[in-house]
Amino acid sequence: MSLLFTRRSKKTGKDEGIVLPEHIGIIMDGNGRWAKKRGLPRSAGHTAGAQNFRTITRYCSDIGIRYLTVYAFSTENWKRPQEEVSALMKLFKQYLEEALSDFKDDSIVVRFIGDTSAFSPDLQELIERTQRESADRTGMVLNIAMNYGSRDELVMAVKSIASKVHNGELSVDDIDADMISSNLYTAGQPDPDLIIRPSGEYRISNFMLWQAAYTEFIILDKLWPDFTTDDLDSALLEFSKRNRRFGGV
Ligand code: IPE
Ligand code: IPE
Ligand code: MG
Repeated sequence: MSLLFTRRSKKTGKDEGIVLPEHIGIIMDGNGRWAKKRGLPRSAGHTAGAQNFRTITRYCSDIGIRYLTVYAFSTENWKRPQEEVSALMKLFKQYLEEALSDFKDDSIVVRFIGDTSAFSPDLQELIERTQRESADRTGMVLNIAMNYGSRDELVMAVKSIASKVHNGELSVDDIDADMISSNLYTAGQPDPDLIIRPSGEYRISNFMLWQAAYTEFIILDKLWPDFTTDDLDSALLEFSKRNRRFGGV
């Protein structure tokens, strides 16, 4: 949370310094409505959303964000019609392949958070390969949340800690907040400073419940495929003006 980013103000024409968040989360919502507005199938909205994911990810890396977590598919999204889920799986494969070569130039480390064991063997193989090939890079860490649900993540952490207590490796008194954090998919990473949700929905939809204890939220009445780098700049400017107190004064 110490990086300074300079942006030319549209109002005053002067450069303004913005303190950048170290970790940004984005709930990439609104693809379906974007397509519906255009009389297109929902899958066309997902394609436009996936394209925007590439643009925004590269921009975050360019301006010096250290961690970016994008919510791509929740544990509840399996409830959607089979046709839509299949279209999404197809897109994940295509975009992962393409985005990976793109992200190589930016030295982006790609990680996946969520229960990826539910995906098809070829998608799992692609996920594994992506993580392996990008692990030694030194740039921004990109967490792609796929089959991610914060409640599932917390259940996983509780089970892992409980089994260590059961084996005698840990005692109940050793359990603290840091231990819970270090048993989540985001272990070792800072909590998100800012979560952005386009599409105008005022809810968290099972995203980073534990990690977002003191996160700043920005909700925009714009659908994800329409969310631009200018919108991100505006969100960063707004974030830099927030007074984060963390319970203090
Ligand atoms: C977000 O867009 C993408 C996923 C959840 C996979 P939606 O598909 O939820 O779009 P809306 O909210 O229906 O417009
Ligand atoms: C949240 O969006 C999940 C992702 C963006 C991947 P949803 O569209 O699934 O959330 P709800 O159903 O509106 O809460
Ligand atoms: Mg939605």
